[in-house]
Amino acid sequence: MTTTQADLTPELVVDFDIYDPSVTMPVDRMQEKAAELAAIGPIVWSTTHGGHWLVTSYEHVHAILRDPETFSSHPNNLVDAGQGKFLPIELDPPEHTSYRQALQPLFSPNRMKALEPRIREIVIELITSFQADGKVEFVEKFAHELPTQVFLALMGWPLEDAALFTDATEVALNGRPGETPEQAAESRTKAAYEMFGYFMKVIAERRAAIESGEAAAEDVTSAIISTEITDSDGLQRPLTDDELARMFFLLLIAGLHTTQGSLAWMMLHLSQNTEERDKLIDDPATVPAAVEEILRFEAAIAMGRRATTDTTIGDVPVRAGDQLLLLLCAANRDEGEFDDPTSLDVERTPNRHLAFGSGPHRCIGSHLARLMLKIAAEELHQRIPDYRLDPEDPPVVLPSQVRGFARLSLLFTPVA
Ligand code: HEM
Repeated sequence: MTTTQADLTPELVVDFDIYDPSVTMPVDRMQEKAAELAAIGPIVWSTTHGGHWLVTSYEHVHAILRDPETFSSHPNNLVDAGQGKFLPIELDPPEHTSYRQALQPLFSPNRMKALEPRIREIVIELITSFQADGKVEFVEKFAHELPTQVFLALMGWPLEDAALFTDATEVALNGRPGETPEQAAESRTKAAYEMFGYFMKVIAERRAAIESGEAAAEDVTSAIISTEITDSDGLQRPLTDDELARMFFLLLIAGLHTTQGSLAWMMLHLSQNTEERDKLIDDPATVPAAVEEILRFEAAIAMGRRATTDTTIGDVPVRAGDQLLLLLCAANRDEGEFDDPTSLDVERTPNRHLAFGSGPHRCIGSHLARLMLKIAAEELHQRIPDYRLDPEDPPVVLPSQVRGFARLSLLFTPVA
């Protein structure tokens, strides 16, 4: 039997809902809310979404992520777009291992390094497109575009397809703004269906290109399609179309919104901490550590886990079948792990943040994400260093398990 509210002392019970728009208004409300939850204890019970635990402490989040036997990754989402399991993020070891290994070489540091010149080119093109204007809606013109274009280059997919999957992945994650929960569920399912149609087309075309010898050996899509996995009977077999589609869908969802969010959080927080920003402007060598600090300071992901057996977290009993949500934003500001955690310190060391997770599902795209953030930070701080928030057009953040920006308007001194 799973936990119900009746089993709990009232002080452990909250009505926090990660999908509630008030959680992101104003933009730093989520951090305030997370601190309030952490002040109650390392684990509290939310009555929303059928009831689930919220874990806030660094120690417990870290331990749960590294214990897939007790805490399954399925379901990872509190809301479901009806797409079936996302691969490999919703599989547990040992099943997970083979799918993960199929993806691993594609994101190796060496492959990422080779992408660096193209990433810098895209970054410079994007900044050049708005630098003379003295203002920019940063999400549309930069934070969204950069990971989208890099992702398309990595996968070898046509740039003109960006609009389709941009809209569909946004809706598959969040529904459409202003919808009722039922309408949002319907929109999410429809968007997921559209995406699968797109992937099936890509897969069919790519299989044909591989067979005719036309596919470039180095493109990631062909490489994934040609990969063999070891199934539960120990037999080697290629991935099915359905498995491939679910992997591509995850790569998109995992790669775009997360990076888009981190780029925007970087600009927001550095515009509000100009002494820290000056360090990046004066010495680009500080950028890698600053990127780590941005990732720590604003970890936008809250991943789900489900207890597979009765256990305890701290001294709180958790039952088999209970759903958990791990609030990385709280763990990354835990005083037990970080000195002065609510201050942004671009030279912070050590900085063992959990923004990319930990354990078997630790982010496979972390090298790519770091590279995009680093190059973006270097070029933006050299080209439009005095950016500030536009007081006439306040930032808009969308609530979700991957909290990200809808708008971030910036003003800066125009560059001819
Ligand atoms: C700043 C940007 C990013 C952040 C903060 C981030 C964060 C995360 C986190 C926290 C996880 C673990 C989820 C869990 O344990 O349930 C994860 C997994 C994953 N990420 Fe990222 N990510 C980022 C960028 C990317 C990029 C650019 C890609 C690829 C294009 C990517 C692909 C993946 C994949 C495939 C997984 C699942 C790995 C597995 O299940 O073994 N991520 N990411």
